[in-house]
Amino acid sequence: MRVITLAGSPRFPSRSTALLTVSQHRLEQRGVEVIPWNLHNFRPEDLLYARFDSPALLALKEDLAGADGVIVATPIYKASFSGALKTLLDLLPERALEHKVVLPLATGGTVAHMLAVDYALKPVLSALKAQEILHGVFADDSQIAHYDRQPELSDLLNTRLNDALATFYYALQQREVRLAQAV
Ligand SMILES: Cc1cc2nc3c(=O)[nH]c(=O)nc-3n(C[C@H](O)[C@H](O)[C@H](O)COP(=O)(O)O)c2cc1C
Repeated sequence: MRVITLAGSPRFPSRSTALLTVSQHRLEQRGVEVIPWNLHNFRPEDLLYARFDSPALLALKEDLAGADGVIVATPIYKASFSGALKTLLDLLPERALEHKVVLPLATGGTVAHMLAVDYALKPVLSALKAQEILHGVFADDSQIAHYDRQPELSDLLNTRLNDALATFYYALQQREVRLAQAV
């Protein structure tokens, strides 16, 4: 199984990216191959000027084509997902997430915006034809410490992330079964 993680924060170090780092380690322990991508892999002008032929974008598209699942993480900015992440998602082909299981993760300063993943990010993931979009995990800033090095998650967040990753892994397995039955 191969999974892409896509970090949608313009900043580094970053809390939402820390959730991906933790997720990567936990999935690798289950034998999943994880390929991490983040916004810093792209030249800002390629994203801003919608350069569909930029080398990094072509490489991401190739990695996506070979992936079974994707985990997208974003900070909440102005009650939505980050605009920088949108500049990247806008450049992906219409069916970039077809046949893929997708798990969204978000971090924000206030739980008042915890539904932003549902009303803002999920519609975009649907537009990219994601096969299955799982319930996301939202963390508020107080639940993640030391995100510049070894991130420490609160017990509650740890449990919710573990549950979400278990569901994600199960969905990937189900996908494999369906594919095997189809041939
Ligand atoms: C420009 C900007 C806008 C933000 N807007 C919101 C917001 O509307 N709602 C919210 O809950 N948090 C908001 N935040 C806080 C971030 O979402 C939060 O600190 C998040 O964990 C940052 O993630 P990162 O470290 O991965 O970039 C904002 C932060 C910045 C820098």
